[in-house]
This record gives sequence, structure tokens and C-alpha cells, in this order.
Amino acid sequence: ATIHDQKLVRGNGGELHQLAEGETEVLTTAQGGPVADDQNSLKIGSRGPTVLEDFHFREKIFHFDHERIPERVVHARGYGAHGYFETYESLAPYTRADLFQRAGEKTPVFVRFSTVAGSKGSVDLARDVRGFAVKFYTKEGNWDLVGNNIPVFFIQDAIKFPDIIHSVKPEPDRGFPQAQSAHDNFWDFISLTPESMHMIMWVMSDRAIPRSFRFMQGFGVHTFRLVNAKDESTFVKFIWKPKLGMQSVVWNEAVKINGADPDFHRRDLWNAIQSGDFPEWELNLQLFDQEFADSFDFDVLDPTKIIPEEVLEPVPVGRLVLDRMPDNFFAETEQVAFMTQNVPPGIDFSNDPLLQGRNFSYLDTQLKRLGSPNFTHIPINAPKCPLHNFQQDGHMAMRNPVGRVNYQPNSWGEGPRESPQKGFPTFANPEEGQKVRLRAESFADHYSQARQFFISQTPPEQRHIVVALTFELSKCENPVIRERMVSHLLNIDETLGTAIADKLGIKKLPKPADAAVEPRDDLPTSPALSIIEN
Ligand code: HEM
Repeated sequence: ATIHDQKLVRGNGGELHQLAEGETEVLTTAQGGPVADDQNSLKIGSRGPTVLEDFHFREKIFHFDHERIPERVVHARGYGAHGYFETYESLAPYTRADLFQRAGEKTPVFVRFSTVAGSKGSVDLARDVRGFAVKFYTKEGNWDLVGNNIPVFFIQDAIKFPDIIHSVKPEPDRGFPQAQSAHDNFWDFISLTPESMHMIMWVMSDRAIPRSFRFMQGFGVHTFRLVNAKDESTFVKFIWKPKLGMQSVVWNEAVKINGADPDFHRRDLWNAIQSGDFPEWELNLQLFDQEFADSFDFDVLDPTKIIPEEVLEPVPVGRLVLDRMPDNFFAETEQVAFMTQNVPPGIDFSNDPLLQGRNFSYLDTQLKRLGSPNFTHIPINAPKCPLHNFQQDGHMAMRNPVGRVNYQPNSWGEGPRESPQKGFPTFANPEEGQKVRLRAESFADHYSQARQFFISQTPPEQRHIVVALTFELSKCENPVIRERMVSHLLNIDETLGTAIADKLGIKKLPKPADAAVEPRDDLPTSPALSIIEN
């Protein structure tokens, strides 16, 4: 930006004004009134009290006093960018979603990356899950793919979400630690929640300290459905793969970076995009039918499980390019409202109980955070396709029905009408059963995939997991919780559990935790010792 010299000018009353050299626009109030003096409040005499009549002062301070909105209850710290999604080939056999019909079709997107646990001002390189939320502005309305950089989650049912998040956030009496999993409440909850073991292995791995947003994968996590024009459904898992490949830092680096530059990930994305080095990801799909779902040894509705890529190869279907930073961080990155329930015709939900709960939660939380049911009127949230409905009024309404009619059916021939042909066709999945609070037996194996993940890691990666678990659990002061964690780790991998017990100075190895179902016994264990050297 050009630097303007300043000059001192005397006003009509002899008062001094500091003005920029050259022509500038006149400062106004929010009502558009031109402002004569923005340095001094209106007083009785130059040393007297400020008068209530000073509408400019009052408006300026009033507006400042109301600048803050609630930060997101999770994923408060984030950074976004604009770009586009380009479809490779038509996916018409699988989905009627317009954005997937034509090769080369470009759909505008806004993406927000985030950490989960820390507050808005926390550090970028916390050991944490990263959010990877994509808003596609499709011709049939917004599609939000609200994912993470880890393909599984801590819990199987959304009713446990407040508990897992409370446990990782600062403890209520002391108000710390912030943005860290290294404390008693977190490990207490985890140690009492065996379903979290698979996720914990990922969170203790290098995936949780990425080098930058540009080197991360992203996952829709849940099983979704694609539905084609013949109303045929195919199950799908969504996976983003970065063109640059994956890179992480080690913990030692993360700690130093957090101290030296807590904005490290923001700065990286800003610098890359501003210099024309646009980051890119490929969208991959794992597509499968009911028969595959039934034959797979885990429940595809269980969000603590993956479908390994060796079992079902992901197919690349398009690319995401981020090529423009927001003009305004607050207006766009802070006010963007992602919601899992935003899906276009041709993309539908599965019965995953975590996804079903999220579909309720996001609408609720956006009202709280943005303060008005009209949050879709904010440009970053507004669809970029024609929009017609009879919703009206409310705080900050920017658009209302035009003309006489604000209801349907009506006899005036005015206003939009529902369309069975073009409207969202909920997939008619046959459902029946008793109304019960139960967890399916098919969700009960909490250790096999945790083991699979651990043994899939290279020896240096396994060592990083050992170091992370040792560091984190050593911050957990309660010996009972530490031992309980070791009892789970022994079920995941005996060498791992024994190594952690040893490093934590636990003399007598606890019994492996009771398991609702035994972990699979056809999986190899890690090569002994490879993980505990160094
Ligand atoms: C925010 C992902 C589970 C409630 C977010 C964001 C992401 C995300 C990426 C940040 C969006 C942004 O950048 O603005 C996930 C994933 C989950 C999961 C991948 C599991 C697979 C849940 C569950 C709930 C939940 C189970 C509640 C039942 C929320 C809330 C926000 C949020 C309240 C804050 C939204 C806002 O204020 O804008 N989630 N989440 N999430 N999530 Fe989740």
C-alpha cells in the first residue's frame, strides 16, 4: 500500500487536525453523516466533561463494544480461502448431483481449516485434529462437506459430543490447560471410552501435527449416499488427497514453532496463495453397495471405523484448487456457517448416529453464533444459485418475498412452488424397528482397527506415537487413569502397551482392558523393539 504523508491543519475553531496529504474520502458515521473531528469527543470547554449529545462518539463506542460474536464452540481457530472444484468425469451413474454431471464443470468453493480444541487465539501447531470444511456453491444449493484430517472420530453417537469436547477443553475450576489433550480430564474420559481408541492412535500420530494445511488429507468420515436419477443409492466415503503429499512436523518442532510463530499455518496458506502457489487436493470416493457393506467386517455406519484403501480403492473424481484469500477475515472466515445437512439432490445421508446428530447440531449452533435465522443472508453463506422461498422478516433480513404473496398454495399465480421432479428426493431407505436406546453389536470391536493403524505405521512413525503417548500421559497426574490407558494399549498392541508402561514408570503391568468383543486375532503385532529404541 502507498504510504501517505501526514499534515497538521488548523480548523475553523483553531483546533488541530491530522490529515493525510492528497485527496481522501470523507469519514462518515454509520448513518452516512460526515465527521469533522474523530480525535476529540464533544466537551463543555476544552477540559470539561463529555456531553451525551456527542452522537458520533456514542455510535463509535457502541459499535466497538459489540464487535465480538461467540467463537465457535469447537473449531474456533480457523483459516479459510476461496477456490473452485473441478469435476473430472460425469458421475451420473452414481449421483444426480448437478456438480458431478459434466467433465470440466467448475463449482466455486470456500474452505475453512481449523483446530478443534483451542480458542480463537490459540496456537496453530497444537496436537489436535484439523477441520477440513468445504462449502460448494452448487447450482442446486450449497453442499457442505464438513470433514476432518483424520478419517475416524472419538465417539460413535452424537449424544457423547458434549462430553468428549468438555473433557478436552480447559477444566472448569482452573480454566486450563488450553488447546491440549495433555490433562487428566481428557485422558479420564478417553480411558473410560474404549470406542475412542482408534481415533486416539491417529491423534497421537504425526497426522495431528501437520506441516501446513497444504500437506493434509481430508475426510468426510461418515458413510454418505450418492443417489442417481433412477433413485438408486450407492454408499460413499469422501477423501481429499493433497497434491503436495502429506508432511508433518515432529513435536519438538511444533513446540518451538508455537512459541516463535503461533500463526504458522495461517501465514503458510496466506503466503502460498498470495504468491500464486495455489494448493490443490483431489477428491477421492470409496464407492460400495449394500452387499459390500454387509460383507465388510465392521459396520459402515460406525464413524470410528475406516474402510481400508487396500480393501476398497478410492477413485479420484475431481480437484479442489484454492486460489484467493478472503477480502475480509471476519466477514468470510469467521462468519461462514458450515452445516452437514446442506446437501444437494443426489447426495444423501446414512444412518450413522454421529452424522444424524450433527445434522441437528449445526443449524442450532449457527443461530447461537451468528444471532439470526437470516445467517444465510450473509454473502459468504448465501447460495450462488437462484433462491425463492416465503421466509421473511427476522433480525437483519436482507431479502423478503417480493409482491403480494408470502405463502403457498395461492391463487395468484405468484411465487415459487415445490417440484417433485427437481426437488431433493430423500432416499426411501426401508426402516423398521423398536424405539430403543441401544448401540448395535456391530459397533463393539474397538481395538482391531486401532491395531491395524498402529502396525501400518513405519518404525519412525511408531516411535513418534510412543513419544506422544508418553509425553501426553506423563502430563496426566492420576496413576489410575494412566494404568487404565495402558490396559487399553495392551489390547491394541502388546509391545506398545508394555513400552508406554515402562516409560511411565508403571512397575506392575495392568491386565488388558475388558473388551466387549475380542480384537481380531489374524492381525500381526508390531515387530518387537522396533518402536522402543530411542
Ligand atoms: C464445527 C467437523 C462431529 C458439532 C465443526 C467444524 C468442522 C467439524 C470441520 C468447523 C467448521 C468451520 O470451519 O467453521 C466435524 C467432524 C465430526 C464432527 C468431522 C465427526 C465426524 C461433531 C458432532 C457435533 C459437532 C458429533 C455435535 C453433535 C459442531 C459444532 C461446531 C462444529 C457445534 C461449531 C460450528 C460453528 O459454530 O460454526 N465440526 N465435527 N461436530 N461441529 Fe463438528
